[in-house]
Amino acid sequence: MSTSQRKIEHLQLCATSPVESRKKGAGFDDIVLVHRALPEISMDEIDLSVEFLGNELKAPFMIASITGGHPGTTAINAALAGAVEELGLGIGVGSQRAAIEDPAQEESFRIVRDMAPSAFVYGNIGAAQIQEYGIEGIEELIEMIDADAMAIHLNFLQEAIQPEGDRDASGALESIREICRLKVPIIVKETGAGISQEDARLLKDAGVAAIDVGGVGGTSWAGVEVYRAREREDIISELLGELFWDFGIPTVPSIIECNALLPVIATGGVRTGLDIAKCLALGSSLASAALPFVEPAMKGKKEVKENISRILGELKVAMFLSGCGDIKKLHSTPTVITGWTKEYIELRGFDAKEFALRSEKSDFQIV
Ligand SMILES: Cc1cc2nc3c(=O)[nH]c(=O)nc-3n(C[C@H](O)[C@H](O)[C@H](O)COP(=O)(O)O)c2cc1C
Repeated sequence: MSTSQRKIEHLQLCATSPVESRKKGAGFDDIVLVHRALPEISMDEIDLSVEFLGNELKAPFMIASITGGHPGTTAINAALAGAVEELGLGIGVGSQRAAIEDPAQEESFRIVRDMAPSAFVYGNIGAAQIQEYGIEGIEELIEMIDADAMAIHLNFLQEAIQPEGDRDASGALESIREICRLKVPIIVKETGAGISQEDARLLKDAGVAAIDVGGVGGTSWAGVEVYRAREREDIISELLGELFWDFGIPTVPSIIECNALLPVIATGGVRTGLDIAKCLALGSSLASAALPFVEPAMKGKKEVKENISRILGELKVAMFLSGCGDIKKLHSTPTVITGWTKEYIELRGFDAKEFALRSEKSDFQIV
């Protein structure tokens, strides 16, 4: 099956089947923002703007990499990018591999920059493709959409389950290190299994500019592969996908694993503005989401914009009730970590009390 065909199949599957994490959530239920009964700020004056990798965004939220690479995805990308442009946010394109294999597919990616000339737009390719296409090939992908940054995705969980998957992960770090010489910042993103402190350290040393944790809690690519396996009656892959459906580090602990090392984008199960507020309180610079925009984008720009506006309205309420007038304040608001997440982060050497007891005077700073 061609990459282009696989892309459209993934999109349709995600729009019609339950593909989210089943047993474990992202960890948001374990996080409590300390309520301020006396917020002493005006909700209408809350400032959501942020700077990320030298770019101004009107709010700390992006549409994560979703699609491109098939003629059927051009209108979807146009709807996503148009909404992001009007709201002053950021957007990632889906893997540009299909455009390398077939230049006729380039238009489905270029449309993103056409519709979002002033937004923060990032490109996307898998770590394995850097080795395959070389640094010049990646430069072409950046030029294709005049990208402000390039995301290298890691999805070895999915590769391990799909029969056509690439199971050789050796040399991935070295190729990421090489690509960090390029003129645009490099973001390394997981796609639903999270990133550990150990890997964040390796990525920082390699010269990566930011990490998208892509944790467990939202779209499960093992889950997507279960449906594809069922379709072709491949019992072995189906069982493997079922077993690893929820494998990995949930989004919330993954933010905590990475945030002292590099700027973090929190992705994986982010569904509300309250989720975004929690991600930022835990130290991520931005949050992003993919799955919630698949269906709206199939309808049009208006639906995508309405969805994002609702989420940003929720973020404002969360900030109001925590007494945070701007994003800087949100980064240092007292935040209580409970339950499974507390157990996990403490066993990994982090101190939950540091989050719970911080105050305006605390020197907690995001990287
Ligand atoms: C339909 C669909 C296609 C995706 N394609 C890509 C892709 O090409 N490259 C990539 O890095 N991530 C891709 N992702 C992963 C997302 O960027 C994101 O990391 C993941 O879905 C978790 O976020 P969510 O729970 O909000 O969906 C895709 C997600 C969806 C739903």
